[in-house]
Amino acid sequence: MILVIVQTKGGVGKTTLAVNLAVERVVRAARDVLLVDTDEQGTATDFAAIRAERLGSTGFTAVQITGSAVRSQVSALQKKFDDIIIDTGGRDTMALRAALTVADLAVVPFQPRSFDVWTLDKVAGLIGEAKILNPGLRAVAVINCADPQGPDNKAAANALAENTEITFLDAPLGRRKAFPNCNAIGLSVLEALQRDQKACAELMRLADSLSAIPLSRSSKKGAKSP
Ligand SMILES: Nc1ncnc2c1ncn2[C@@H]1O[C@H](COP(=O)(O)OP(=O)(O)OP(=O)(O)O)[C@@H](O)[C@H]1O
Ligand SMILES: [Mg+2]
Repeated sequence: MILVIVQTKGGVGKTTLAVNLAVERVVRAARDVLLVDTDEQGTATDFAAIRAERLGSTGFTAVQITGSAVRSQVSALQKKFDDIIIDTGGRDTMALRAALTVADLAVVPFQPRSFDVWTLDKVAGLIGEAKILNPGLRAVAVINCADPQGPDNKAAANALAENTEITFLDAPLGRRKAFPNCNAIGLSVLEALQRDQKACAELMRLADSLSAIPLSRSSKKGAKSP
């Protein structure tokens, strides 16, 4: 599966999701994973470098590709990997648009706050445009930094009810210190010495929910060219 994490708003947890899902696919599903960093900030690339230094190897392949080359290069690499996870920057870029044209599934993280909810319409527009080239593209929104209680999460879910491009996926990640703590040392929350069980359960639920989504294309690795 080619999965792209996309949100034109910054700081909503795209890289956190990308690196945690990449590691999750490796450690829980023994998948051969490519993590593509299309953000010029290079945060996912930095994570991979810190991880390699700490563990000796990342367990997945990490590359940085920017601009419109994302489309051709990811297409060329897709047969070599079981899963490709693409992290994007927090604004509308060529790389983000290119990634949407090759992905099977777009995951749109948002926080249950009005500004984030408003940006979902913009992201839906980008997804609609990408579908002209990539009609099989599916998109789901997931809440990141969910509040433990209160009406915000329900309100955020309702905000998506009328969105025709993006479906709400009920598999939120809560606001938990484990995520920044693990990001900083190149680990997934699944690998922390003192695991935050709630963070791990949320990540696994999200990964399982994403894997269960029916897609128009399956894994390319080993598949013969048409
Ligand atoms: N579920 C969470 N709980 C607590 N902190 C989180 C969570 N998700 C992300 N964060 C923290 O929020 C900050 C922003 O996250 P992250 O860098 O993943 O966002 P981003 O969308 O990739 O940002 P950018 O648009 O700059 O690339 C980081 O400090 C990260 O550790
Ligand atoms: Mg980022």
